Amino acid sequence: MKICIIGASGKLGTYMVQHALDRGYEVVGVCRERSVSKLDKFKDRITIIPGATNDRQVIQQAVTGCDGVLTVLIPWGIQKYSSGTAQAVLDFAKPGARLIFSCGWHITRDGKDIYSRSFKALLKASILIGKLLRAVEIDDQEEACRRIFNSSTRWTVVRGSDLEEGESQGLPVWSRHVGDPILASNMTRRVDFALFMVAAIEDDSLIHEAPAIVGCSTASALVHAAHM
Ligand SMILES: NC(=O)c1ccc[n+]([C@@H]2O[C@H](COP(=O)([O-])OP(=O)(O)OC[C@H]3O[C@@H](n4cnc5c(N)ncnc54)[C@H](OP(=O)(O)O)[C@@H]3O)[C@@H](O)[C@H]2O)c1
Repeated sequence: MKICIIGASGKLGTYMVQHALDRGYEVVGVCRERSVSKLDKFKDRITIIPGATNDRQVIQQAVTGCDGVLTVLIPWGIQKYSSGTAQAVLDFAKPGARLIFSCGWHITRDGKDIYSRSFKALLKASILIGKLLRAVEIDDQEEACRRIFNSSTRWTVVRGSDLEEGESQGLPVWSRHVGDPILASNMTRRVDFALFMVAAIEDDSLIHEAPAIVGCSTASALVHAAHM
């Protein structure tokens, strides 16, 4: 199995590289030129392609021959970074490849997610401040996901809760809609977010799903498990 990790040098990306190597996958990683050294501990075991993740030539080269593509969707800058990255992956991944994308709970596929007032207020403020500072385009991440949802590829969009560092607790649990009781704890270990992304490559039940995830040892997940 050969996979590509786009955004490999970030926190989530680095964990995904480790999980993928643990599974014996051949790994190609894409990251910004200035961040290549962040992958030093893997440099003899993976192929690194430096470049911006919305550079179509970079993505075309990186995903060639890959059975799976894991993409960290991030909306930095005001350059349509998320939608450019997603579109390049959708255009150049080989037909039939598993495509897994990361984002946050704020992305909704069908409008049936229920968000708290504080979550909505924080999101609104983040969109506004991000735009004013020309630092982040959260609505472009939404556009990226719209394109993914409308594509005929074998996609999964993994929607992360708030994240924390720490030892792995195991594969997160998930639900289709934010607001479902199982998700109430709103916390996942980043290492386990990465685990979910990598495990999704071989989990066909997640094709065309946008799972909202939460840590399997959180209070809300445990309460749900006790009632099963
Ligand atoms: N953080 C949260 O609490 C949270 C919550 C829910 C979901 N998520 C989702 O999780 C994913 C990653 O989150 P994370 O917090 O774990 O971050 P992360 O893995 O550290 O990822 C950050 C990524 O952004 C890149 N980056 C940073 N600044 C950039 C810039 N100015 N231009 C271009 N690329 C830049 C980094 O590349 P370099 O290595 O080159 O800097 C890295 O690949 C995203 O999809 C996010 O939507 C995050």
